[in-house]
Amino acid sequence: MDFGIKNRLSRIFSPKTGKTVMLAVDHGYFQGPTTGLRDMKNITPLVPQADCLFVTRGILRTSIDPATKTSVCLRVSGGPSILGELSNEDIIISMEEALRLNASGVGMSIFVGAKNEERTISNLGRLVNEAQRYGMPVLAITAVGKEMARDARYLGLACRMAAEIGANFVKTYYCEDFHKVVEGCPVPIVIAGGKKLPEMEALRMTEDAIRAGARGVDMGRNIFQSDSPAGMMKAVRAIVHKGATASEALELYQASKKSAAAESVDESLEKV
Ligand code: R5P
Repeated sequence: MDFGIKNRLSRIFSPKTGKTVMLAVDHGYFQGPTTGLRDMKNITPLVPQADCLFVTRGILRTSIDPATKTSVCLRVSGGPSILGELSNEDIIISMEEALRLNASGVGMSIFVGAKNEERTISNLGRLVNEAQRYGMPVLAITAVGKEMARDARYLGLACRMAAEIGANFVKTYYCEDFHKVVEGCPVPIVIAGGKKLPEMEALRMTEDAIRAGARGVDMGRNIFQSDSPAGMMKAVRAIVHKGATASEALELYQASKKSAAAESVDESLEKV
């Protein structure tokens, strides 16, 4: 790996811990104004707490402070909406644009075992070829169709394929026997959070994934749809970077929620 790719990866994965807490806010690229992302101002306070923001160029241009110290991994695939065939994606952002936006990585979905499997895999190969030329790391996202099993056999296949095609890191879902997915994949794996879960379950999943060898998270809904997104950021960071247990992390989440509530009571009293 050359200097450029390593240097950019060091903005995504903390050089101190080798891990990352990526905040995924790209959902609108096919879902529109998702709950929690309707007003992107909700995301602003969370950005400094993330090691990296996984985001589309539209949101980056309109809603993210260009002075942010948080690195950016840019979603570069898209096309279909939730109303269409999700696997029918292509690469829609040029490498030049990713460089202009000062991205530290580019990410696209692959749809192994689904319609358009071959095209999304060959698109990944093309993206890696181009990214390699500019020292840009590539994140492959193993998207899973509704009817497909999220088990270690399937996710292991999809992650290994992504690595073989040349992705520098992979985002996938957590599953039982996740260590098998990690063992079979020669590049770092980060987990997506998936649908909103009760906070303790999301934190337990994070702890289990890290213990099984995940190098971090690229988490969205379980953070920005929480009743305390800042609390969840703190909690997830403690597990990923400090090896906290889910129970210890839950305490951080609860304390943060409580102090935010106390602050808002103080503010309303000041107005009286
Ligand atoms: C899919 O919309 C994106 O790749 C998300 O970035 C990914 O699913 C992570 O977000 P969440 O934790 O909400 O699943």
